[in-house]
Amino acid sequence: MKILGIETSCDETAAAIVEDGRGALSNVIASQVDLHKPYGGIVPEIASREHLLKIIPVIKEAVNNAGIGLKDIDGIAVTYGPGLAGSLLVGVNVAKSLAMSLELPLYGVNHLKGHIYAAWVMGDPPEAKAAFPFVCLVASGGHTELLLMRNYRDFTLLGQTRDDAAGEALDKAARILGLGYPGGPAIQKAADGVCSKEQMPRAWLRGSLDFSFSGVKTAVLNKARNLGLLEGKNRTEAQEKTARELAAAFQESIVDVLVNKTIAAVKKTGAHGVIMGGGVTANLLLRERMIIAADGLPIIVPSPSLSVDNGAMIAAAAYFENIPVGPDGLNLDIVPSLSIA
Ligand code: KG4
Ligand code: ZN
Repeated sequence: MKILGIETSCDETAAAIVEDGRGALSNVIASQVDLHKPYGGIVPEIASREHLLKIIPVIKEAVNNAGIGLKDIDGIAVTYGPGLAGSLLVGVNVAKSLAMSLELPLYGVNHLKGHIYAAWVMGDPPEAKAAFPFVCLVASGGHTELLLMRNYRDFTLLGQTRDDAAGEALDKAARILGLGYPGGPAIQKAADGVCSKEQMPRAWLRGSLDFSFSGVKTAVLNKARNLGLLEGKNRTEAQEKTARELAAAFQESIVDVLVNKTIAAVKKTGAHGVIMGGGVTANLLLRERMIIAADGLPIIVPSPSLSVDNGAMIAAAAYFENIPVGPDGLNLDIVPSLSIA
């Protein structure tokens, strides 16, 4: 069964063809990063206008790259939430039009579940590495959540952020330190090879599996202000070095909290493995530290191109989550604040 997955919830216009939830025949992503860069963050109206321009060429390319025609598609999957309203509307409307004109079933997919099912797209499926249940860490620009996945379609929320998402905190810290946008990759690059003596706080929240990243964000803002580093203008070499040290300490703090809470969730639930998804899980230090902390327990994390927003994860999620319960009607609406469980 070949599903076309469409993703336009944020600043990536993406489409992919995935067969039976596993094995992407194509995966096309048009990033808007350069358009939003001058503003240091996503401008919602620019995002939705760009989706409008890119969505049809991206879908055409995904179908062509898969070596199939529109007539070979068996279903249309699309992110209907969570995300930016204007961005979601573009994907959902195109998906509805295609479903109607090609007389195909339409599947509305939860973007966050997409990040989890990205682990099924390539290579051996998670069940081949460990039996259910899994602890899932979803860390992206808008969400930081820990879930227990007992089986397909069976998720329980264990913890979530009480303020900023991990990616949001990385994006803000990079902006404060004048390192550019998007912040996650910028901080990873700036911190590379830096041995930092700086210390940043960690919010452990008394053993709770919830997260809080606003404190560490304020800490980096205060340090940068005191050191005259704000916005990265006219800095000396020594100040550049200090900015990289603060970036390294910030990354350490975020990674330390994500790893410790994920492993605590495994201990609490007796899960047999960890699935990681979302843009922040592309972070190399996070991947490395999670594997070390797991001490042999399988850590399942897709390649960085499947960790960030993409259409393949949406097609895979539709296969495992939506198909067993049936398609949505053409009255499918967007839900910008959709939750995962
Ligand atoms: O999942 P995603 O592509 O979009 C959302 O659903 O939000 O995640 C985007 C977030 C951004 O905050 C970005 O800075 C972060 O993921 N990110 C990273 C890395 N690559 C992307 N954070 C840390 N390290 C990375 N290598
Ligand atoms: Zn995402």
